[in-house]
Amino acid sequence: MAESNHIYHCINVQQFSRAFLEELSDLADKIRAIAKTKAGMEYLGSTLNHKRAMLYFVQPSTRTFLSFYSACQVLGIKCAEVRDPKTSSEVKGESEEDTVRTFSSYFDLIIMRHPRANFAEKIANLLDETARPVPVINAGSGKDQHPTQALLDIYTLRRSFAHRDGIDHKSIAFVGDLKRGRTVRSLAGLLTRFEGVKQYFVAPPEFQIGQDILDYLDEQGAEYEIVEDFESVIPKVDAIYMTRLQDEWDAVDNTNAVIDIDKYSFQERHLSLLKADGVILHPLPRRKEIAVEVDKDPRAGYWRQVRNGMWIRVALIAKIFRRAENILQYYLTNNL
Ligand code: NCD
Repeated sequence: MAESNHIYHCINVQQFSRAFLEELSDLADKIRAIAKTKAGMEYLGSTLNHKRAMLYFVQPSTRTFLSFYSACQVLGIKCAEVRDPKTSSEVKGESEEDTVRTFSSYFDLIIMRHPRANFAEKIANLLDETARPVPVINAGSGKDQHPTQALLDIYTLRRSFAHRDGIDHKSIAFVGDLKRGRTVRSLAGLLTRFEGVKQYFVAPPEFQIGQDILDYLDEQGAEYEIVEDFESVIPKVDAIYMTRLQDEWDAVDNTNAVIDIDKYSFQERHLSLLKADGVILHPLPRRKEIAVEVDKDPRAGYWRQVRNGMWIRVALIAKIFRRAENILQYYLTNNL
């Protein structure tokens, strides 16, 4: 049963089925229960202590990097990292493809964040053709996809709505720079796996979600609305997903128009508009999109999101190396 939703590479959200999402979230919950004791942590740390992972993060990252790093540590996986390509042979003119292929000979798993949209997929395909293929996890690819963030967002939504029949028939508003925010693009796609979810895309026209995502939602028969006015949406939704302006892409995109994004921010006064059992999410890092005064409200879910992120990544890596059955067995045997 458990290993039936098998996963090898983790490249984009299109590859995840509803059954996979449910199984992964259940597994993460069980891993957390196991991790509460020293004996449990020792067991988890022994499950993959014969494996080595390379974290190839050539785009700025601390939270996702550390989240993966700690997830590997929980499972006993030894990690090495490349964060600055200037310190590798790429300065000698080596292609990035060759660089990563070289690493793959030393490691059992490659986790990569890269500014190019299709790079992780390209590397996964390239490694599949080699004598020693290893799995690749996409930890953020350009402006395109961030599949593991979408997994942790789904996990957080599922936990937030556990007492309300789960994610089905809930509504969510995505707010901010939806054009270049890869977390939104990934999560919007993944929410189509649930019944009757309504998505609102709330942004100035210049930062609206890409047509490719809307085409995908249409294909999947998902319900959505494009909205410009933020405040009018707040009372309608069960979850609000705030994002920051992704202005590191301005130079690449030639976006020099001055667009006022400040009104797409969640202020303390907005709390009274939000449903009593609503939840506010943010992939972080935040700037001013959520006022710090909002943090103390129980509906602020972004710090929980960070914690959930590490555990869902533990579950994902365990699945990749086919350890889910084993972990479930431990869970049952120890009456957790
Ligand atoms: C996001 C990213 O890198 O896309 N951060 C993250 O991984 N949590 C969001 C962002 O940078 O705005």
